[in-house]
Amino acid sequence: MDIAIITGASSGLGTEFARQIDRNERLDAIWGIARREDRLEEIGRELKHPFRAMRCDLTKKESFMQIDELLKKENPNVKILVNAAGFGKIGAWSDISLQDCEDMIDLNCKAAVKMTQLVLPYMEKGGRILEIVSTAGFQSFPYLNVYASTKAFLYRYSRALRVELFGRGIHVTAVCPYWVKDTEFIGVSKQTNNSRYICHFPLASRKKNVVAGALFAAKVGLPVATPGIVCTLHRIAAKFIPNEIMMGLWALLRRI
Ligand SMILES: NC(=O)c1ccc[n+]([C@@H]2O[C@H](COP(=O)([O-])OP(=O)(O)OC[C@H]3O[C@@H](n4cnc5c(N)ncnc54)[C@H](OP(=O)(O)O)[C@@H]3O)[C@@H](O)[C@H]2O)c1
Repeated sequence: MDIAIITGASSGLGTEFARQIDRNERLDAIWGIARREDRLEEIGRELKHPFRAMRCDLTKKESFMQIDELLKKENPNVKILVNAAGFGKIGAWSDISLQDCEDMIDLNCKAAVKMTQLVLPYMEKGGRILEIVSTAGFQSFPYLNVYASTKAFLYRYSRALRVELFGRGIHVTAVCPYWVKDTEFIGVSKQTNNSRYICHFPLASRKKNVVAGALFAAKVGLPVATPGIVCTLHRIAAKFIPNEIMMGLWALLRRI
């Protein structure tokens, strides 16, 4: 049984991945993972592939036991894994609760690694893993500190894993979009004691383009996908400009 597994499938980029994979791939099923089961089921009804809605909170240990058991029972060939579940919070260190800090690390880092580790034994040559990182992973970001740090972790993890998997013919792509305006991410990121450090999100991209670019990059085996002009320029700039100067530029940009 050939399948795709998408975490964070209940909204935003995850839903769009489900839609585009549904349209462009030949699989036996798509599995979608998130906490909101009703939303997953709604999306499942839209797709032509059979869709398995899995209600899991990926910050909880039990969820991975549940996923592990299902993988053992079904023994699928996972053609595509998309780790899109993730969230960020805007604010100074004192504006963000300890729980949110912990959950960002648990979801953006630990859950992505655990999903990848659990799924890899079920992947064959030609398999694709898309870790949804962010352009935030390219440098340090005051007032988006913990989030950006989780993405820096995922970026490094993804790139090294790709090299480890060369021999098995499995591609790993770190997908690094700039702000995406038509998902729930920005709304969730503002739910802190003070999110006014970032007021506007100029030149934000759209999920359709981001996902199409990411799937293309994964198909041709690119290590990093920067779907859009801003994230591409950011990637280049962060390579050559010292982190302190990049943070200075960020201090200007976030006030625009
Ligand atoms: N939008 C942007 O500006 C942007 C830019 C760069 C990178 N990204 C990255 O793109 C990824 C997708 O974000 P998005 O823009 O699509 O945001 P979104 O619309 O808020 O989607 C986030 C997804 O994560 C799931 N999720 C959240 N907490 C979870 C948990 N504890 N367990 C399981 N699933 C959980 C949510 O589902 P439930 O609430 O149903 O659990 C939802 O499906 C994230 O990793 C984000 O960091 C986003």
